[in-house]
Amino acid sequence: MGTQDGIQSCRTVVCEAPVNIAVIKYWGKKNEDLVIPLNDSISVTLDTEHLRARTIVSLDPTSDGVQFSLNGKEETPSKRFMKVIALCKSEALRQGSIRENDTTLGLRIVSDNNFPTAAGLASSAAGISCLASALKAVYDIQGDISGIVRQGSGSACRSVYGGFVRWHTGHAGDGSDSVAQQIRPASHWPELRVLILVVNDKKKDVSSTSGMKESVDTSDLLRYRADFIANARCEAMTAAITDRNFEKFAELTMRDSNQFHAICLDTYPPIMYLDDTSKAVINLIHAYNRKSGRILAAYSFDAGPNPFLFTLSENLQSLVELLRLQFPSANSSFLRGLTDFLLKSPENVEYGDILNPVSDSVQYIIVTKAGEGPKTSVNEVPMSPFC
Ligand code: DP6
Repeated sequence: MGTQDGIQSCRTVVCEAPVNIAVIKYWGKKNEDLVIPLNDSISVTLDTEHLRARTIVSLDPTSDGVQFSLNGKEETPSKRFMKVIALCKSEALRQGSIRENDTTLGLRIVSDNNFPTAAGLASSAAGISCLASALKAVYDIQGDISGIVRQGSGSACRSVYGGFVRWHTGHAGDGSDSVAQQIRPASHWPELRVLILVVNDKKKDVSSTSGMKESVDTSDLLRYRADFIANARCEAMTAAITDRNFEKFAELTMRDSNQFHAICLDTYPPIMYLDDTSKAVINLIHAYNRKSGRILAAYSFDAGPNPFLFTLSENLQSLVELLRLQFPSANSSFLRGLTDFLLKSPENVEYGDILNPVSDSVQYIIVTKAGEGPKTSVNEVPMSPFC
């Protein structure tokens, strides 16, 4: 592989790729085919230790098709998957790392997620960036692949990098400069914690792709955001991340999530991703910040009701205590992920006046942090009809 002789060996590539959560949202395309967004967006890549997609890709000389399974079930690969495969093959051909003949070699693709698929937990972002990163290794593609990933699913292009990532709209009509770039690696802000409250792990009603198209067609607020708000917010967010200014980061995150959901409501007919538990979390976080006299936590919601919360490690214990009191649960594994802070003795803080407990409305909480981009490992055997 990687020579002008094209593919000489059978490769199996295992890739693990992260989920990302946008703090300045992408919502709306100016070019649907090329997936060019109306505005820049910024996200935090989450640690693959707690949420990850895994994809194993192997070349199959016995077939010319694509065999695909997701979470143990054989599936027909989606159009997006096939598009990413086609784009990776043509990029490898362009770079000369494979020959025309090699493009007909079959692919066996086995994927799984360790978190609920399609419930607004950005599983498609992780899945598409995982596939493309695996194919990058299979076909020996050099350089940035975020422009390919973007065309499979917009938000997925931010999962190509770790840490804090900005996806630039770009200026070129062909989308060639609409790519993701790392603002800072995860190690830049090790104290940042992200909590994912799983309130609902069912498939969402309105997909992001169709929801944002309806918003582009009908929401005046979306146009206003794209023209006057979002890119300026990306500048302010980049500064907040660079300076590790949590209060600024948190306020921008909450304002942007609220504006995104306001646009959903401004879409005609309206789209409602938030449910009663989401709204209770919004109110709780504002009450907690007010009571603390400064911003200690922030929320953000994608196209689903599950809250993503941000805080710093020094405030994690008090925030988790607050959540446990507000959302009592009999679930013995209610808290998952980074739970070492539980070893400390609980703080004695009185939250009674801001609580309105509702049992079992949060199924469980994953505590995580910012993490690195996709990781691949390659296993090579000589090309034969049996590999
Ligand atoms: C609300 O990336 O899923 O999560 O490009 O059509 O695949 P397509 O949409 P998708 O939209 C994600 C929207 C969001 C906000 C974000 O992640 O920026």
